[in-house]
Amino acid sequence: MAVVVTDAGPGTAGIDTSGLAPDDARFVEIFTGRWPADLYGFYRHLRDTDPVHRCGFGPVWVVTRYDDIYALVRDRRFGKGELTADQLDLTFLEDRPSPHPHDRTSMVFLNPPEYTLQRALISRAFTPKRVEEIRPEIEAHVDRLLDAVAERGEVDALEDFAFELPMAVIGDLVGLPDDLRHRFKQLVPQNGMFMEPGATPAQIEAAARARIEMFTTFGQLVYDRKRAPRDDLVTGLIEAREGDARLGRREIIGVLILLLGAGFETTMNMIGNGLYTLLRHPEQLALLQADPSLVPSAVEEMLRYESITQMIGRMALEDAEVAGVPIPAGHHVFAFLGSANRDDRHFVDPDRFDVRRTPNDHLAFSGGVRYCLGASLARIELTVLFERLVRRFPVIELVDPDPGWQPRVIVHGLRSVRIRVGEPSPAVVGPAATE
Ligand code: HEM
Repeated sequence: MAVVVTDAGPGTAGIDTSGLAPDDARFVEIFTGRWPADLYGFYRHLRDTDPVHRCGFGPVWVVTRYDDIYALVRDRRFGKGELTADQLDLTFLEDRPSPHPHDRTSMVFLNPPEYTLQRALISRAFTPKRVEEIRPEIEAHVDRLLDAVAERGEVDALEDFAFELPMAVIGDLVGLPDDLRHRFKQLVPQNGMFMEPGATPAQIEAAARARIEMFTTFGQLVYDRKRAPRDDLVTGLIEAREGDARLGRREIIGVLILLLGAGFETTMNMIGNGLYTLLRHPEQLALLQADPSLVPSAVEEMLRYESITQMIGRMALEDAEVAGVPIPAGHHVFAFLGSANRDDRHFVDPDRFDVRRTPNDHLAFSGGVRYCLGASLARIELTVLFERLVRRFPVIELVDPDPGWQPRVIVHGLRSVRIRVGEPSPAVVGPAATE
């Protein structure tokens, strides 16, 4: 069954899905960055009627229940594999690169044993201890950013601090010079368009240019650190050893690009989604303002309720099954973490946003061996930011209640989060008693 493109670009209404079965048409919309208004209703429908769904347009499956995804990410029969455009019967992908291209320098696309080695070497340089050491810097960044918010009163949280915080943190961590950070803010999402099935040829070209620019910058950085080692992550990556194995120059550059991409856009947009959700639930905001010790639990609920990574991909490395459904070797499985996190088989009243929810074992950071390497860093950033925000501003309001979603599938984030902060309005005081 073919799909015709009548207009280019993710998020446009131009991809004609009329030839597809209704559920497949919804997937094509999601894969091309058009988030349906009833996203969570659609997930519920799938969990209830077709939890391991075979798409009609290629060797692709969609899994939506919590338990099945929990098991899938721990099942060694599934790994990473390239999904090529010609495997899919979707005409809008003709003459485009693969929707999920393989990059041999980056561990996110590798399988064991190469994957295991890279992950071990990176984890060694990226320890929880190193991450915890930068907490005071994170606090200082947050205070500086919130000072600016207080001064201006009304800001776009995404632009004015959600971007700045993770870029400052990850930029410091990977040693990105200050003057390049705004440039990288553009380059990272441009490079990420490689992964978007709905990207236009022009966006793919821009992605290639962005990657070359990032590669050149980090290439120089690796060269500098080899000549003059420092006590930092890049030097740690250069020096990391596992027996005789070590990371090559190209691999180190790939890791730095990966860390920047994975660490900046995710956290930035999670700050946006979390703040937006909180402000749409003023009674929950009031709970945090009254008791900021609830913030760590609120952060987990934000991650669960409006997950940034709605979907992850795996390929069956051998014949396998999910929830008893056979998945042939070479077939691709998309696991919807955003659906797992709203599964009422696992969470009580999952569509309720509840900052006191416990337990809250969401899958927003995935699970198994590929569990997000930056989860502890993201948690520190989010917790420090929200704690200071609710302590500092008695009034925080949404200015635009419906900004819409960015037209991308890799990151499920809002277009903007305009907020107003301030002191409570002065109480209405009656006429002064004069007698
Ligand atoms: C709120 C913020 C974040 C969210 C929601 C998030 C989410 C995720 C998810 C769902 C995966 C798993 C993908 C899979 O199973 O295939 C992942 C992997 C990864 N994340 Fe994060 N992430 C966040 C922040 C970060 C940060 C701050 C960093 C690093 C600085 C980071 C680095 C990574 C890396 C390197 C991987 C690949 C792990 C592997 O393949 O072994 N992430 N992340």
